[in-house]
Amino acid sequence: MLKRFNPFNRLADLFFKNRPYEEKTIQLSNEEYFVRAIKFDDIKDLLSIEREVYAGEMPWTKTAFLMELQATDPHLYLLIQKEEKTIGFIGCRLFGKDAHITNVAVSTAYQGKGIGSFLIKEIQQFSILNKCETISLEVRISNKNAQKVYRKLGFASSTIKPEYYTENKEDALEMVLSLKEE
Ligand SMILES: CC(C)(COP(=O)(O)OP(=O)(O)OC[C@H]1O[C@@H](n2cnc3c(N)ncnc32)[C@H](O)[C@@H]1OP(=O)(O)O)[C@@H](O)C(=O)NCCC(=O)NCCS
Repeated sequence: MLKRFNPFNRLADLFFKNRPYEEKTIQLSNEEYFVRAIKFDDIKDLLSIEREVYAGEMPWTKTAFLMELQATDPHLYLLIQKEEKTIGFIGCRLFGKDAHITNVAVSTAYQGKGIGSFLIKEIQQFSILNKCETISLEVRISNKNAQKVYRKLGFASSTIKPEYYTENKEDALEMVLSLKEE
């Protein structure tokens, strides 16, 4: 049934959409972590996670992070900390009804503990509040670990983007999660 128009619902929508991310402490498998929105000063920590998980390759530079954090499109960039050390992050930018995950990484020692899945679910909440219909991302065709995580969360393979990663001409697999109720 169509919701009857109510100006207060519209105001409530706007309030929730534009509300800054509320930092919080979470528990995953009996371990406590702290999650909050990324600030400019955090970029050096994000770069060091990238350096670590991509074996010295840096998919994103400081400028790329700065531009994303200042984008005018709605976006959400989150980091997760263990004992005040940043151990992972995620970012997404909304393009119309699609929320695009632009970057996600978890420090090697903390992978496989549910952190990446948790971060993606936070993006999912943000996307739903912003009335998105899909969440999309690109992943290297060789990155089977990450693809497995995304599939488990309901993402399906969409298209292959040939030679998307220019440095080694590797193809990207685009994966999409539908947020529409069946
Ligand atoms: C891909 C990535 C973000 C996933 O984050 P994560 O915190 O490791 O993911 P989760 O712990 O939520 O993983 C969920 C499942 O995948 C498994 N898994 C994923 N990556 C794993 C890894 N490196 N080692 C062991 N298990 C892994 C987990 O065991 C878990 O399976 P289960 O639910 O059956 O136990 C993270 O592994 C990473 O940063 N990888 C390197 C950078 C990268 O590839 N980024 C993505 C670019 S598109």
